Amino acid sequence: MPEPSQWLFPAHTDRVVYDRAMEKLSDLHIYTGSKCNRECDFCIVSGRPDGWYHPITEETLTAALGLVPLDGTIKFYGGEPTIAPDNLLWAMRRLRERGFQGWFTIFSNGVLADRIVKLLEADDKTDVVLNYSILHGEDADPIPPDSLARLKAFDAAHPGRITSSHAGVFPFGRGVNFVAEVGQQHITERMNTSMAKKMEIGELDQNRVAEAEARNFRLCPRCRPVVGTEGRHHACPFAVESNMPHFDMGATTDPAEEVLARFQRFLDWINDVLEPEAERRQIHPCLVCTHHLETLPLPG
Ligand SMILES: C[S@@+](CC[C@H](N)C(=O)[O-])C[C@H]1O[C@@H](n2cnc3c(N)ncnc32)[C@H](O)[C@@H]1O
Ligand code: SF4
Ligand code: SF4
Repeated sequence: MPEPSQWLFPAHTDRVVYDRAMEKLSDLHIYTGSKCNRECDFCIVSGRPDGWYHPITEETLTAALGLVPLDGTIKFYGGEPTIAPDNLLWAMRRLRERGFQGWFTIFSNGVLADRIVKLLEADDKTDVVLNYSILHGEDADPIPPDSLARLKAFDAAHPGRITSSHAGVFPFGRGVNFVAEVGQQHITERMNTSMAKKMEIGELDQNRVAEAEARNFRLCPRCRPVVGTEGRHHACPFAVESNMPHFDMGATTDPAEEVLARFQRFLDWINDVLEPEAERRQIHPCLVCTHHLETLPLPG
C-alpha cells in the first residue's frame, strides 16, 4: 500500500462538514444504479456490467434541490456515472439553470478518462473522486496507464479538481465476502492507511484515530443520504442496494421537510440502536445492516 505522501492524487475531503444543526444537508448522493464497467471484488453496491441503470430525471433534481442548499454539494454516485455522460451533463447543466451554485462531485473509477475530462471542463465547480483501489492497483486491476496519464495531465493544469477516495473497505454488498476472504488484518491495514491519510491532511486528530482503533473500526461513517433515480430516497449510500425498510426515506416526490426529518430519525437510530447492537455482537455495524436488521426496530 502506498504511504500517504505517495498517493497519486490528494485525498477527497468534504468542503463543508455536515452538522445536524444545519437546516438542510451539506451534501447528498444521486444514485443511478449498480451498472458499471468494472466488477470490483469489494464493491459495496455490487457494481457490474449487467447492473441496473435509471437516468437522472427532472424529478430527481427537484428532490435533490429540496434537500441541499443552493451552495451545497451534489455527489453523483453509482455504479459508474461516466457510462451515461450525456445524462450526467444534462443534469449538471439543468441544476445550474435551476440556480444551484455549489459543487458537483463525481465518483468514478477513472477508466473512461476522456469523459471525465469533458465533464470537468464543462463545469468549473465540479470535482472527481477516483476509486483508491483502482487508482493504486490495490485489490483491483489498476487504472489503464493512458487513462491515468490523461487524468494526471488535467490535474497538472487544474490542481485540486481530481482526488482519491478513502482507502477503507467496509463489509457491505460484495464487500462482505471480500472482507471474509482477505482477512481482518488486511482490512485493518487498509483502515490504518485511510486514517494515516486523514491525519496527514488534518481531517482527523490522534485522539479520534485512537478512539476508532479502540473500537476496532466498528463505526458507521454516517454518510449523507441518497436520491435514487428509481424514485426513492435511501438513508445510506453504502447500503443503497438494500430494500430493508430501515433505510427507506420515502418517495422522491415526498415533501423535503419530511425526508429531512426521516434522515434525522435515521441518525438517532444509528446512535441508539445500530451501533449498540454491533457492539453487543462484536461485529461491524455494516454487518448488522447486512444480516440482522429484521431483529431491529425501524428508525423513529
Ligand atoms: C460504489 S463506488 C461508485 C463510483 C465509481 N464506480 C468508483 O468506483 O469510484 C463509490 C465509492 O465507493 C467506494 N467503495 C466501493 N466499495 C467499497 C467498500 N466495500 N467499502 C468502502 N468504500 C467502498 C469506492 O472506493 C468509491 O470511492
Ligand atoms: S467500486 Fe466502483 S468501479 Fe468498482 S464495481 Fe463498484 S461501482 Fe464499479
Ligand atoms: S453501518 Fe449501516 S448505515 Fe452505516 S454505513 Fe454501514 S450499511 Fe450504512
